[in-house]
Amino acid sequence: MTRQRWTSRTVFLLAALGSAVGLGNLWRFPYLAGKYGGGAFLVPYLIALVLVGVPLLMLEFAIGQKMQQGAIGSFEKLHPSFWGLGLLALMSSFIIVSYYAVVMAWSLIYLLASFPMKWSGDVKSYFFEDVLQRTDGIEILGGINWPSLWALLVVWILVYFCIWKGTKSVGKVVLYSVPLPIILLGLLLLRAVTLPGFLQGWEMYLKPTWSVLLKPDVWTAAFSQIFFTLSLAFGIMIAYASYKKSDDDIAKDTWVTALLNSSISLLAGFVVFGVLGYMSWKTGTPLTELAASGPGLAFVVFPEALSLMPLPGLFSFLFFLMLLSLGIDSAFSLVEAVNAAILDKQKHLPVAVVSIGVCLAALMAGIIYTTRAGIYFLDLVDHFVTNYNLLLTGIFQSILVGWIYGAEKLRRYINQVSDWKLGKWWNFAIKYIILVVLVTLLVTQFSKDIKIPYGGYPAWALGIGWSIVLVPLLLFLFLMVMNNIKLK
Ligand code: PHE
Repeated sequence: MTRQRWTSRTVFLLAALGSAVGLGNLWRFPYLAGKYGGGAFLVPYLIALVLVGVPLLMLEFAIGQKMQQGAIGSFEKLHPSFWGLGLLALMSSFIIVSYYAVVMAWSLIYLLASFPMKWSGDVKSYFFEDVLQRTDGIEILGGINWPSLWALLVVWILVYFCIWKGTKSVGKVVLYSVPLPIILLGLLLLRAVTLPGFLQGWEMYLKPTWSVLLKPDVWTAAFSQIFFTLSLAFGIMIAYASYKKSDDDIAKDTWVTALLNSSISLLAGFVVFGVLGYMSWKTGTPLTELAASGPGLAFVVFPEALSLMPLPGLFSFLFFLMLLSLGIDSAFSLVEAVNAAILDKQKHLPVAVVSIGVCLAALMAGIIYTTRAGIYFLDLVDHFVTNYNLLLTGIFQSILVGWIYGAEKLRRYINQVSDWKLGKWWNFAIKYIILVVLVTLLVTQFSKDIKIPYGGYPAWALGIGWSIVLVPLLLFLFLMVMNNIKLK
């Protein structure tokens, strides 16, 4: 069977951009900017983008396109002992998509609750008591929360029909699902700038406090944000690039993806802070109290702000439609990463069958997050996967390419196929900068988690968290050693 292909370069770019642009642009970037020095945050952010984000994205695009395989096959071709590294990346993808879909399920519940708006009044209790039906702690499961599970099922059916024909169906979906949230973001921006108070919001977002640049926290936040927002170390960008032809351009595609993604983050910041400025004007709550990250922003603060506007139902509907359409291309990109690796090894299997298997497995894995203690598990698992597994994959990836395969060899390939020539600085970034940055992030996080166990969870729960880090890592190391013995 010949390899699946994108129908055009635009489709590839849309798919890569769709994976990159997600909840991280909307609920993580603006929050970090607000918290870490406003406009001054752009300095570490842009430095992280150029020194780590762009080089790593280029690396992933290059190996996928050169090897014409998903993550497992690509790493195997770089060095036969490293195929387990692909497994490490794909395990992160699988774990993340299983709860990412649950967040989308909440968005769907809110979308359906927009007409008539069910949360006017107390949004906090709507989210925690009505939608999540949250128990008092992780140790009380509280049984299945059925509406969440039904919504999750619907989300998975949607995701399945986006990918069931591989690049063919993805190629059609991204033509709509990538521009749609950007247009909706534009509409919400127009709404924000016609509300009183938006300028105070923008002031908090942009007014630079330069002294924060001296704090190490700001730098680690910027580097990990770049890492997450570009969907690096999941095997996604490798899989997507493997559906390009091996002589397609790489350098330009990397810059376009990275710069557009960051521009959308910046734009999202204007929307989020504009609306929060209005809310602060209307309710008298200080802005610093409103600027929240994660589920708190999307499911509590923002819905409340929307309920204070004229036509609240309409704007809530648009907002949650935006969340869903932002999330869906990120979600199916995670599934595609896994699919690509399976299809490389099992060429005779139809895409539709592999997709159904992966979607079903991820749906089952997600059931734990639809219990009434689901949000605790989600928070716990998210903490460990995003802070450890991804960094570990990134570190091994740069060791493999920088030190074993040879950064210069890959750079020559990139230059062979690209219009924009890549300088020697890239080798330096791969071999040293990325390694130093990622190891620093890992060590900082580790010492924090050792000093103060994360989130005050009980020991057994933290044990689950650590095994999510250790099991894939040990499996990868074991496979590497076994392969090495076999090769000798
Ligand atoms: N890049 C996505 C975001 O910023 C996060 C994500 C990472 C989604 C990896 C899917 C896979 O929201």
